[in-house]
Amino acid sequence: MVCLGNICRSPIAEGLMIEELNKYNIYFQVDSAGTGGWHVGSAPDKRSIKVANENGLDISKQKCRTIESADYEEFDYLFAMDTSIYQTLQERSPNPEYLGKIKLICDINETYDGSNKENMDVPDPYTGDLNDFRIVYRMLDNLCEKWARKLVSIGK
Ligand code: 4NP
Repeated sequence: MVCLGNICRSPIAEGLMIEELNKYNIYFQVDSAGTGGWHVGSAPDKRSIKVANENGLDISKQKCRTIESADYEEFDYLFAMDTSIYQTLQERSPNPEYLGKIKLICDINETYDGSNKENMDVPDPYTGDLNDFRIVYRMLDNLCEKWARKLVSIGK
């Protein structure tokens, strides 16, 4: 799960994806990272922790890190929170063979018809208020539930 700072969106996405995949009897590894390094070593943003807590999810133990070349090898999927992160992940791919692993997390929505590139972002709530974080949480809850079902159904 990859966003810009790895303190607002991707920590929520990591927590939710773990929660979703835990519903299935499978082995998996989920982590999150940022493309920017401003907050490395920090816990998630207090507002992300609070909104997750409101929904019974504890993400407070997570530690911010940046995306590394090894992640492209290690993980089957790199989920970008928005189109800008998607582009950065593509640019930083150490090898073209990994490009197919990079997915826009919004690209699971059934309403997406392939022609409209708007609404493909989980909006960055960093400069927003708690309500913006709640909107992000609801979006990610829905997206992670759909991705978990899909990943389990295709076995990877
Ligand atoms: P995130 O939000 O990418 O969802 O973690 C941000 C967090 C920090 C910054 C930008 C976005 N920042 O500029 O420090």
